[in-house]
Amino acid sequence: MATSFTYGARSGGQLPEALVRFITEEQLKGFGDPANVIIHPEIDARLKKGYDKEVFQAKPKQTEIVSTLGLFELPYIVFVGYEDGSGLDGIRRAAAAAAKALKSIRVKHAEVLLQSTILNVAITEKGADAVAQALTEGLVLALHDRKPLKKDQTDRFALEEITFKPEAGFDEKHGNKQVWELGINRGKIITDGVGYARDLTNLPGNDLTPERLAFHAEELANSLDLEIEVIDEWTATEQRMGGLLSVGQGSINPPRMIVIHYKGASDSSETLGLIGKGITFDTGGISLKKAPGMEEMISDMGGAAAVLGAVKALAELKAEVNIVAVIPTAENMPSDRAFKPGDVIRTMSGYTVEIVNTDAEGRLVLADGLTTAIRRGATKLIDVATLTGAVMVALGYEATGAVTNNDSLMEEVKRASEQTGERVWQLPAYAEFKNNLKSDAADLKNSGSRYGGASAGGLFIGHFAEGLPWVHLDIGGTAWLEASRGWEPKGATGVMVRTLVELASTKK
Ligand code: BES
Ligand code: MN
Ligand code: ZN
Repeated sequence: MATSFTYGARSGGQLPEALVRFITEEQLKGFGDPANVIIHPEIDARLKKGYDKEVFQAKPKQTEIVSTLGLFELPYIVFVGYEDGSGLDGIRRAAAAAAKALKSIRVKHAEVLLQSTILNVAITEKGADAVAQALTEGLVLALHDRKPLKKDQTDRFALEEITFKPEAGFDEKHGNKQVWELGINRGKIITDGVGYARDLTNLPGNDLTPERLAFHAEELANSLDLEIEVIDEWTATEQRMGGLLSVGQGSINPPRMIVIHYKGASDSSETLGLIGKGITFDTGGISLKKAPGMEEMISDMGGAAAVLGAVKALAELKAEVNIVAVIPTAENMPSDRAFKPGDVIRTMSGYTVEIVNTDAEGRLVLADGLTTAIRRGATKLIDVATLTGAVMVALGYEATGAVTNNDSLMEEVKRASEQTGERVWQLPAYAEFKNNLKSDAADLKNSGSRYGGASAGGLFIGHFAEGLPWVHLDIGGTAWLEASRGWEPKGATGVMVRTLVELASTKK
């Protein structure tokens, strides 16, 4: 169930169960002074005692749940550590911590106190709407996780209602109701997009085949009233999509090329191509992966999910931008008819590729994805892909790796990522990495040295950009987590939905 958000003072009705109050370490130090009661002398003293004993020190991510036992009008106060000047990211993180604390005491209706001392800096720098959005995002995203398929679906906790309550002194200069509702609404639409991407990514491979992914895309496009083409294996053959077809040929579940058009800027000549890797399961093919952890390869369509989630949000926001979203989707399986090392394939662009490792399949389907986006009118390209394990060697789970041929598009992506808190780190695009992909048998081979693999993988894809501005986002380390952190759950994260939306929906 979706959480409903309201802004403003309470007007009768049932009391919320908890108050969320952000607090800095500096503020906490001032608690317990009998001459300056903040909440209630006993509650203040308890908090101060906790501080002195180094239990709750109001550090970021720390929370302290106080059961008020009649000393305060609401049953609980949830104190959430906040670091001064930590910006939208700090706000989003604090909101996520608050949500987890609320979940731990199964609160359905909470009130979040808006304090000018806490939010002033961020509001001045980024605007009240952005702050409202960040609060909404942190609260919603932190509570969204994988829904297991069990015999008995157990009753799940839901945070039903959040009231943002401005404290005395939180006035027009902190944004009026209208501005807050704008930010809340934007946050809700965007977190819906992220939730959509997470749910899709968490689907098991026996459910989410390429045809099923195309079905989900059709459902989405229909609900948003967007034009969609689903190219099946026969049409893909006619269109010479050799990259997509080679990867898909080993599986009983045939590949698809999905194209969705969103036209929100009829007077603009620019169309942003968003291309998402949609490998519904990656066994590695004939170059079979090792067994441990292979189940995580259900997330090898995380790029496709990010693109769909972003399109959903952009359409709902009525963003003034033109998008052609392209999802090449296939299942990478070994079989008697699978493609194999030594094969030479011809991609849709005409460029040929010598296959040296069938596990480097993402770049092959993406090559045709880029060509498809360009033929459908894209003037700039961003691909999102769980492309390499190498990006994880370089950046761990901490950042998405980027490769580009265009500094100004890269700057736009970086700016968007700073706004959303989804870290993006640019990797070098040295020509030497691409030299590793020279082949004796074709224009390129699909894999080279073990070293610099994330850059090389990116540069392979860039070969198909036809000189258009292009950024590659390798979410190999960020699309799937083994443990929850901040606003991200265990399993699928939906990473890059918010950054793509930010990028595509803000005017430069
Ligand atoms: N989908 C994988 C990359 C991946 C692995 C993402 C683990 C997240 C976690 C991709 O298709 C792949 O197998 N890449 C190979 C490329 C290599 C053969 C050049 C890799 O990284 O090992
Ligand atoms: Mn692979
Ligand atoms: Zn893969």
